This record gives sequence, C-alpha cells and structure tokens, in this order.
Amino acid sequence: METKVLPVEKSPREKSPFSPCPISSHQKDLLTRAVTASKMAYCPYSHFSVGACVETETGDLYDGCNIENASFGLSICAERTAVFSAVAHGMKKIKTIAIVADTKGPVSPCGACRQVIAEFSDDSTVVILGNMEGTTAIMSIKDILPYGFEL
Ligand code: THU
Repeated sequence: METKVLPVEKSPREKSPFSPCPISSHQKDLLTRAVTASKMAYCPYSHFSVGACVETETGDLYDGCNIENASFGLSICAERTAVFSAVAHGMKKIKTIAIVADTKGPVSPCGACRQVIAEFSDDSTVVILGNMEGTTAIMSIKDILPYGFEL
C-alpha cells in the first residue's frame, strides 16, 4: 500500500509569526475595530474576549465577538460571528480578516474558525492576527490551515 507524503509546509508557529512585519494604517484600523468588537464579547464562562473584523471585497466591514452560552457547545467564536454576519449581508469572499484577543503573541484562531474562514477565502485573503499589546502577524489562509477540508 502506498503512503503519500504530503508536502506540509512549516507551521506558522515554526515560521515565527512573532517576527516584526510591516502593517499598513488600514490594517491597523481593522485591528482597532476588532479590539472594539472584543469589548462586546459575551463570555461569562471563560472570561476570554475575542474580537474580529472582516473586510469584504467590496470594502464593507463586519465585526464580531465571541458569544457564549450556558450550554457551552452552543457558544460561537468571534471570527465566525463576523464571517457569518458578512455572509448574511451578501459577502462572497473575505479580503481581510483581523482577529485579536488578550494573548501572549498574536491570537491563534481555533481550527473550526480556520475552516470557516477558508470557505470564504482564496490565496489573496489576508489574515491579520493580533493581541492587545499590538503584536501582529500577517498570514494567508494556507499558512493557518494547510490541507483544509474541501468537497
Ligand atoms: N474563541 C474565539 O472567539 N475564537 C477562537 O478562535 C478561539 C476561542 C472564544 C470561544 C470562547 O468563548 C472563548 O474564546 C474561550 O474558548
């Protein structure tokens, strides 16, 4: 039986997302919106606020925060709140998504959100990860989700 060795690239962590990368003032604005959105988080169980801002190809912006529930599995992450809101308003493709949380380095989005972001992304989609201290990393969807599920 043949075993296929996949050409998996170095993970974003190994590539050191913490190395300084230039960030435009527009990208900073998206991060600021994500920080503002994180202040709306409903997270009485984890006390961990996350914010996201999606920029569509047409330049519209949709923000999101995490919204938890007493039935924990019903909680939704900030990224998915923002992406679903954008889709509900007609978005076909994410141009940029900024995500922030109070983490040591740039926030690392959960696997489910990476798959959801991938659904509405292509190679030109810019993923901006940040924290509350202004540490940022700029990545592509392939960086954060190599070998994602496709139908
Ligand atoms: N959370 C997000 O909003 N995005 C992620 O990518 C990871 C986790 C939220 C879900 C939950 O409300 C809290 O963070 C703790 O897991």
